[in-house]
Amino acid sequence: MEFFVQTYGCQMNKLDTNLVINSFVHAGFELTDQPSEADIVLINTCSVRQHAEERVLSLLGHLKHIKKTQPGIIVAVFGCMAQRLKEDLLRYEVVNIVCGPLQIPQLVGLVNKTIEQNTKLAAVSSDIRHNPQQQQSDQLDDFELLYDLAQDNLPAQAYVRVMRGCDNFCSYCVVPYVRGPEASRPPQKIIAQIKKLADAGIKQITLLGQTVNSYRYNGSSFADLLYEVSKINGIEWIKFVTCYPKNFDERIFKAMVDLPKICRYLHIPAQSGSDKILKAMSRGYTCGQYLEIIDKARDIVPDIAIAGDFIVGFPGETDEDFQKTVELVEKTQYKNCFIFKYSPRPGTRADGKLADNVPMEVKKQRNIKLLAVQEKISENLNKSFIGRTVKVLVEGTSKKSHLDKTDKQGVPQLIGRTAGDFIAVFDGPENLAGQFVDIVITKTSALTLFGQVN
Ligand code: SAH
Ligand code: SF4
Ligand code: F3S
Repeated sequence: MEFFVQTYGCQMNKLDTNLVINSFVHAGFELTDQPSEADIVLINTCSVRQHAEERVLSLLGHLKHIKKTQPGIIVAVFGCMAQRLKEDLLRYEVVNIVCGPLQIPQLVGLVNKTIEQNTKLAAVSSDIRHNPQQQQSDQLDDFELLYDLAQDNLPAQAYVRVMRGCDNFCSYCVVPYVRGPEASRPPQKIIAQIKKLADAGIKQITLLGQTVNSYRYNGSSFADLLYEVSKINGIEWIKFVTCYPKNFDERIFKAMVDLPKICRYLHIPAQSGSDKILKAMSRGYTCGQYLEIIDKARDIVPDIAIAGDFIVGFPGETDEDFQKTVELVEKTQYKNCFIFKYSPRPGTRADGKLADNVPMEVKKQRNIKLLAVQEKISENLNKSFIGRTVKVLVEGTSKKSHLDKTDKQGVPQLIGRTAGDFIAVFDGPENLAGQFVDIVITKTSALTLFGQVN
């Protein structure tokens, strides 16, 4: 039988999708990239903004249509939205299975049972914040270790989870309610997993957690983990996302300087530049404290590349508050920023307490303005690369045709990323995918470096 997977959401979900794909392949199912050919459609969902959920609902609408002519299709919704809406999702006629992010090891079994019994099934946590988790954690760890040789990843790259869940409860955020309590994985399991990946030819790993810098296991910190991971032969680049700008252990910056494998890239969302809004978001730091961390980072690692996230139009955000965000973006000089319009999430504290009182039009304007501010910064930063040689790990052929396409007919354009997460586009043979190459940068835009293989 063939299965198709559609994934929404963050890297955690991409990783989960990979694990799920491998578990299905292991169980004898065949992956297809054509939904129309699939007997089983798996949808890995995100709840972080309303828009993410709307996309899932619209896909379900589409599948309802397909199911009219192919009534045998099995549709399984898993991930964060499955955990948020639980059995309610089964009310959609088209949905056969609902499976939470902590239940993904059961997904193959659920599908098999549905094939045999033609019943609707749900496996979600009933009270994700309070149930004992140890057994579940062990099960997830085993699942991770068994199935981490992802088919769907970029060549020579893999994600490795270092922690699950989140305990921060930022007032706008659904993640703690759908991913459960924060739990760090044992370092020996992480190391064993990375060694296995390295043996299979993986060269770059990205350590994943909602707040990786708060990783702690029996007294062992995230910086300790970086030193351990760095010892693994075969792994050449180590990246990690996301960092939380509170109680930042500066040994992480020292590790970047000490250990050549640790990429000098820091994704550290500020969310807002206004102390009033940061307080309403329950972020637990001020704009000044955030900037202290950025200063410290640049002090210890002068060439560090910094990326951020911002939410515009949070309840009560005035023009003045927004102006403070603009100033923070200008001061920090990010390499790039992800900017989101506030989206009220049911069950979160902000949604319960604060009216979503910034009009959509104002949110849109602020989003456009902040993007423009960042674009100028990125453009200038990228210009400084002209004439320099950068090392990139090649991801594969570039989907879009970029400017600077020369007359070399038939030579594909490749895309790669630097250690600082800058995207570079250049001509070269497809078999460079998964290799490190040196690129001389000849041209730049706000989003991309263009160059030639050195
Ligand atoms: N754990 C990460 C973020 C995970 S969610 C961290 O704390 O940095 C990814 C991003 O989505 C967040 O950084 C935030 O900018 C955005 N986001 C989260 N909830 C949102 C909401 N309700 N509306 C709009 N954007 C949101
Ligand atoms: Fe959400 Fe805050 Fe946790 Fe990030 S740290 S996942 S924004 S609650
Ligand atoms: Fe990620 Fe979305 Fe879940 S951002 S953790 S997939 S709610």
